Amino acid sequence: MIGQVKLFKSRIMDFKTISNITGFMPPELLHKIFIKFLQTKYFKRKIDHRNLKTRVLNKNFNNPLGLAAGFDKNAEAIEGLLNLGFGFVELGTVTPMPQKGNPRPRVFKIPEFEAVIQRLGFNNNGIEMFLENLKKSKNNHNILGVNIGKNKNSESQFSDYLLLYNKVVDYSDYITINISSPNTPGLRDIQEKGNIEKLLKTLSRIKKRKPTFLKLSPDISKKNLENICKLILNSKMIDGVVLTNTTITREMLYKKPIKDAWKVNEKGGLSGPPLRDKANTLIRDVYEITNGKIVIIGVGGVSSGKDAFQKISLGANLIQLYTSLIYSGPNVVFNILKELSELLKRKRIESVAELVGKNISCE
Ligand SMILES: Cc1cc2nc3c(=O)[nH]c(=O)nc-3n(C[C@H](O)[C@H](O)[C@H](O)COP(=O)(O)O)c2cc1C
Repeated sequence: MIGQVKLFKSRIMDFKTISNITGFMPPELLHKIFIKFLQTKYFKRKIDHRNLKTRVLNKNFNNPLGLAAGFDKNAEAIEGLLNLGFGFVELGTVTPMPQKGNPRPRVFKIPEFEAVIQRLGFNNNGIEMFLENLKKSKNNHNILGVNIGKNKNSESQFSDYLLLYNKVVDYSDYITINISSPNTPGLRDIQEKGNIEKLLKTLSRIKKRKPTFLKLSPDISKKNLENICKLILNSKMIDGVVLTNTTITREMLYKKPIKDAWKVNEKGGLSGPPLRDKANTLIRDVYEITNGKIVIIGVGGVSSGKDAFQKISLGANLIQLYTSLIYSGPNVVFNILKELSELLKRKRIESVAELVGKNISCE
């Protein structure tokens, strides 16, 4: 019996093999199975590296690596996700009303780059169901963020954000305002000068405040980026930015041949390693523009301890991942954190907070 359990565990550890075997299955079905697996709470890894503990916005994080938005859109597997070892989890994107999202197929894996192109379009069960789930599982020891977005057919996009903010504020540690998904028409236009000001004005009517982030697109213009940084520095509403969402650009995929080359032309957002450099450029830019005065959550292509080190070194206080969980499985969190902790020791850096914005190489 013990032998069988060990075998089962070692099979789960060898996620790459599972990933290869299940490669023919539709990605969304695999995702559902993954969520069900997490709900069993079977997999639990204790991760405790003293040099990775950090404090951001008056909150203690066991480590700086979080789960990015989009994986648990309905707050269904919170405990199972925290059991993987994440220092925090960002739930959502949740919208006011349930919505089905775009027609399938809408998720495309590009194994040659360990990347994904998707145009899900905020498929979720809506805020009421989300809150029911969240209320059941909220405990005070773990840090949960909620990522909010507008409905596709919403007539008053800014008031969608106000409504959602007020609904989630008592059940979350921070709130991310998603204005960068490429799969909801017009959403990214909120990053433009007049619109972002209107959004902040609408949000000034919230009943209570929690740490608040704007999630930005890697494709944002330098002008809009500078304007948003300036607004944040002068605003009491926003504490920082999540950098970045997925990109609609594709040039990074032209570096080597892809078996299913047609996938490159599928509409949607590209994530994983091909996004890394673009996201890193934005982290560096925002850190420079703001002199490190706002909080940055860095996300895009994190799949190793080196990737994590690089983002923090460029100015990210916290980091997140999504796509590497699809390709490398549950152990990716443990492996990244172990490598990051060792890299800090090798570089004689006492703690992760000390690395933020130092702009040093991990080589
Ligand atoms: C399948 C999938 C769904 C996503 N859904 C959302 C979402 O609902 N809201 C959001 O803000 N970002 C969403 N994202 C973007 C991720 O949160 C993250 O910003 C992006 O994938 C870059 O990180 P990665 O390279 O580690 O995946 C999604 C990404 C993927 C791959």
